[in-house]
Amino acid sequence: MKKRILTGLQASGTLHIGNYFGALKPLVDLTNQDDNEVLLMVADYHAITSLKDATELKTNIYNIVRDYLAAGVDPKKVILFRQSDNQDHMELGWIFNCLVTVPFLMQAHSYKDKVAKGLEPNAGLFTYPMLMAADIALYNTDIVPVGEDQRQHIEYTREAVTKFNNAYGKTLKEPKELVVAGVGIVPGTDGQKMSKSYKNTIPLFGTREEIQKAVMSIVTDSSGDRPLNVYNIHHVIYRALGKSQDELDALYHEHAGKYKALKDILVDDIETVIGPMRAKRELITDDEIRAVLADGAIRAKAISNPMIEKIRKAVGIAL
Ligand code: ADP
Ligand code: TRP
Repeated sequence: MKKRILTGLQASGTLHIGNYFGALKPLVDLTNQDDNEVLLMVADYHAITSLKDATELKTNIYNIVRDYLAAGVDPKKVILFRQSDNQDHMELGWIFNCLVTVPFLMQAHSYKDKVAKGLEPNAGLFTYPMLMAADIALYNTDIVPVGEDQRQHIEYTREAVTKFNNAYGKTLKEPKELVVAGVGIVPGTDGQKMSKSYKNTIPLFGTREEIQKAVMSIVTDSSGDRPLNVYNIHHVIYRALGKSQDELDALYHEHAGKYKALKDILVDDIETVIGPMRAKRELITDDEIRAVLADGAIRAKAISNPMIEKIRKAVGIAL
């Protein structure tokens, strides 16, 4: 039996190579395994809990799909769709809202964190975990690949499913989380974790010039003859190229003390890894994206429609 895997995609701004090696690539690799049936959902209804700009939301939706397609998602294999194209999510989300309690939702870390960061505590943000539980339960999902920060949301999903099954009879499946492990933490140009909030990133889909500029700005420590920050980023890129640490050590030995030369090689190597993805990304048109999402919506609904019928019967709203 194929395992059904579902995850939600959120806009993450302009992606950097830390996002790619830490999150995108492991997920894309998972979608390319034949023994899985994978659904990737653009969580646009979730996005409006915090984003109130229509133009920006629209741009984000196109960009997320474009990024994942460029990174290697095959829309023939994967069901790539938008949450808002399938109203079954809303309906089950509401039913879950009627099963869980306010004190339970108040314990959610992500809600508390977002409010602590100054986000408006709107009711959508508060009930966010129940829409997410619906996204998952609607497709009889077995496995949900997520980042560590989303683990509690999967626990919340299991709780909502259990409450439903206890109230209405066993109808829904309890999912398991899969915390996707990338290559570990990719360091930024200053040696800290690469993060958009630290402005120390190397852009994933940047031009060669942008990559070059970022690489040249890598802070080189002058202790010893090996520039550690350059080496650590190179290490991640070398792995992606299928080369060994011994080969990397030999390269740094050969060019000991020649920081500029090593940075030039790093630029070339990054270009080898991401150049083809960037080229692919540039060719993906908005029409193509709309066609992928329309096809995804049909395939998603083919799974969820019979499920929501079962749910309605169980609840007593199908006469
Ligand atoms: P940022 O730190 O740039 O704001 P996000 O928090 O939006 O990045 O992260 C999106 C995803 O990318 C998460 O799954 C996160 O684990 C991963 N990620 C972000 N930065 C790195 C990094 N430097 N190394 C590895 N993975 C990362
Ligand atoms: N909340 C998730 C995040 O912030 C996105 C998401 C929405 C999701 N619905 C989902 C993830 C369903 C997994 C399954 O990353």
